[in-house]
Amino acid sequence: MERNKSKYEILVELAKRRGIFWPAYEIYGGVAGFYDFGPIGLSIKNNIMNEWRYYLIHNVDVNVVEIETPIITPRIVLKASGHEDHFTDPITECKSCGRVYRADHLIEETIGKKVEGLSMDELWKIIQEHNIKCPECGGELTKPKPALLLFKTEIGPYKGSKAYLRPETAQGMFTNFKNILNIARNKLPLGIAQIGRVGRNEISPRQGLLRLREFTIMELEFFFDPEKSYEEVLNILKKRNELRNEKLNILTAKTKLEGKEDTQTYTTIDLIEENIVANPWMAYWMAIGNIFLRKIGIPPNKIRFDEKLPEEKAHYSEQTFDQEVLTEKYGWIEVAGYSYRTTYDLRRHIKYSKADLTFFKKYKKPKKVKKKKIAPNPTKIRELAGEKFPLIMKALSEMDKESLLLELESKGYIDVLDVKIPRTAFYIKEEEVLVHGEKIIPHVVEPSFGLERIFYVLLENSLHITNDQKIVLRLPYRIAPYMAAVFPLVSGTRPEHVKMVNLARKIREILISNRITVYYDEEGSIGKRYVRADEIGIPLAITVDYQSIEDNTVTIRHRDTRKQKRIHIDKIIEEISQYFR
Ligand code: GLY
Repeated sequence: MERNKSKYEILVELAKRRGIFWPAYEIYGGVAGFYDFGPIGLSIKNNIMNEWRYYLIHNVDVNVVEIETPIITPRIVLKASGHEDHFTDPITECKSCGRVYRADHLIEETIGKKVEGLSMDELWKIIQEHNIKCPECGGELTKPKPALLLFKTEIGPYKGSKAYLRPETAQGMFTNFKNILNIARNKLPLGIAQIGRVGRNEISPRQGLLRLREFTIMELEFFFDPEKSYEEVLNILKKRNELRNEKLNILTAKTKLEGKEDTQTYTTIDLIEENIVANPWMAYWMAIGNIFLRKIGIPPNKIRFDEKLPEEKAHYSEQTFDQEVLTEKYGWIEVAGYSYRTTYDLRRHIKYSKADLTFFKKYKKPKKVKKKKIAPNPTKIRELAGEKFPLIMKALSEMDKESLLLELESKGYIDVLDVKIPRTAFYIKEEEVLVHGEKIIPHVVEPSFGLERIFYVLLENSLHITNDQKIVLRLPYRIAPYMAAVFPLVSGTRPEHVKMVNLARKIREILISNRITVYYDEEGSIGKRYVRADEIGIPLAITVDYQSIEDNTVTIRHRDTRKQKRIHIDKIIEEISQYFR
């Protein structure tokens, strides 16, 4: 192991050598923003996903269900969601060499100041003031303009209709809200989760696994009645003291506006009581997300929540906190975002699809309310309509009564088939009716996690170099690509070696039938096999040796301490299982 290599360089080299990850399409020179995951990397990713499912879907105090929806999205959906108009980044082009840059990033790299969210005019002013040129050839740059980050495609091979690859899984949850609400017995609050691939056509991604053009999002849209959120969250926190007292490191927008970067530690309940969060459910999900990251092995002092300034937030969000992890290579990086999307998405989909995406909120007791009833007066309408009378009566019967009343009350008349019909041509009377509830548009809080970013921070954080310069990937046990390794000490043709191999293979079968994932290897020296197992983070290694074939005992070696103990093979399942409870 070379002493002067950075952790990042060691990781990238290890990742390729041991089948964790590497740039995609390498045989054709690679394409920025796309990565492949090998067998070890995929296993780690699947384990992170399952931990996410455990902490965000199952081990929560509310109803959360998981769904799967398509990646290819008809244009209308992303028009309604606002992405077609807002999901852009500013680009600037070199007038000499034609290279294209993300304007805000180029400015940040040149003058060392954050400029995310500034308008095209503001960015252009900075480029001119600081005389920023093309970093490659020194050429003049063009005025920044917005570039759409959606990948375009078509549905249908010939003259197809316009579509995009989804940039988030969230829209699948919004468009399915009513279906899932019905399946969930029409009860709020309700969480709908999805894990899936998304595409973002980034301008010039250069940060390895951190800025991908295709990646996996683990996302949850949480629908609730805002009038009840305080009471509902407080009831949960009363019962779950550890969640109520979970400590979160927060960098508020207010602190940032004062030009400071100090985080302050708040408990979940403090976030609510001190109005740091715009809705109590934000605090609930941030606490759950904090626990998730801690439990999968990120030290709490390397986790913080960065509240976004108005210009840094996505178009749909009233308040956003990015959950960041401190890395050696990139500093603080965002691994998750918590957005208060309010009614934005449902409202937009109601408008564009005309579907009823409301929730019927039942009153505790039916309420008596005064309601106006309207009916046309046929005699008066016949006088006004003449021959058109039957057609007009039909049109009026098909109209929404509430809209008809509103129009008559605001204008004093209504135009039907070019006939002006005044308010006096209707019977309008007020009645007392019993109302059982009202339709509301639920509010939404969204925790959204980037899987590959969590994968990267976990690997970086787990990478350990021993005093004898060996690599050990100290992944948390549940995240490791295999639960255990099984090795015969020696494999060969001598009778005792054949016995060893047979016993090792039998142990492998026993473990697998007990749902313990096993890495089995009988080739090469045992020392090299331990090195390989340590490098991919396998926490426990079981070795069958000469003594094993005499008395049915094996050694079990721990990755992090390298210590071994001897146990009977009947005890292996119990021994391994205790680390995964
Ligand atoms: N849905 C979260 C995001 O698009 O980043």
